[in-house]
Amino acid sequence: MGSKLVGCGSAVPKLQISNDDLAKIVDTSDEWISVRTGIRNRRVITGNENVNALAVQAAKSALEMAEVEAENVDLIIQSSSTPDDLFGGAARIQKDLGCKNAWGFDITAACSGFIMGLITATRFIKGGGYQNILVIGAEALSRFVDFTDRGSCILFGDAAGAVLLQACSADEDGLLGFDLNSDGSGQRFLNAPIKKIEPEATSSTNGSPMFPPRKSAYSYIQMNGKEVFRFAVRSVPQTLQVSLEEAGLTSSNIDWLLLHQANQRIIDSVATRLGIPQEKIISNLANYGNTSSASVPLALDEAVRSGKVKAGDKIATAGFGAGLHWGSAILRW
Ligand code: ACO
Repeated sequence: MGSKLVGCGSAVPKLQISNDDLAKIVDTSDEWISVRTGIRNRRVITGNENVNALAVQAAKSALEMAEVEAENVDLIIQSSSTPDDLFGGAARIQKDLGCKNAWGFDITAACSGFIMGLITATRFIKGGGYQNILVIGAEALSRFVDFTDRGSCILFGDAAGAVLLQACSADEDGLLGFDLNSDGSGQRFLNAPIKKIEPEATSSTNGSPMFPPRKSAYSYIQMNGKEVFRFAVRSVPQTLQVSLEEAGLTSSNIDWLLLHQANQRIIDSVATRLGIPQEKIISNLANYGNTSSASVPLALDEAVRSGKVKAGDKIATAGFGAGLHWGSAILRW
């Protein structure tokens, strides 16, 4: 039993924030941001926009491309570190899309979450009993960005991307190799820890340690950019080599390199280390910034719809970031 990608979709918020817009609120410039990162614009949710709506829109497009009815979806996996609800969003997506025969769950693995969700979906299909699985990466990192911190606020944007994975015969299998990793010792380099907000004292403490009732919130994203950069340029080529070996391929057999869109210098460095030429790089980072677990399906969707990625093309993809988590997959579209 194999699994193949049969549809993709994406959605972004309306509001675009340019580097010049950011230069009005922090001490930075379009030149500094674009030279160091390759980013020029990002989208940010406003008003009634939210992660669920973006996820539903992206998933709907993936189903339409695949010509699969919502009621034929068996499982929904949403990767999100920034869901609208602490308890996750997959069930709400299931209801809003009308996937009445599906169950779902969320996974949290920051910018590696989409790859980890995708591989998880392939395991369900391999195990039998699952025909169609939606894998969605949906994020609104802007909720946790400190827009006074010029070292991090320039990087992130909001978006959603989705793919539909379908059961197929082993020779049609679209997953040729994969490799997944975590190393919590690097968590200190990139995180958004929970912080305790001391509630106002009330008179009705009842002598209980649970009074006054607790209140919590998450901190802004805290990042040591240099360490994350070093981790990425070291680990991503390594994980891709492992996936390529499992697939019985070398980097010269790959049609496209589609990495998590964090920084153009990271993408270019990985391509150089693997000997992959510039024309095989898929990148839309300039328009959307780092959209965490949405970045890979967002870039894939653009590349498929523009006709760049064609049926049968082999794509080397990788996610990396907070956790630290990182991983890769060699996919056949
Ligand atoms: N504008 C202008 N100057 C700036 C800015 C800015 N936005 N940000 C930092 N600087 C200054 C610093 O203050 C520093 O000044 P100094 O030399 O006077 O002290 C100088 O520029 C260099 O700062 P560095 O932090 O050393 O710059 P660096 O070259 O490392 O680039 C960057 C910073 C772009 C953040 C880079 O380190 C990077 O991209 N790292 C990877 C981050 C990443 O991808 N994170 C997401 C991972 S995915 C996830 O899980 C969410």
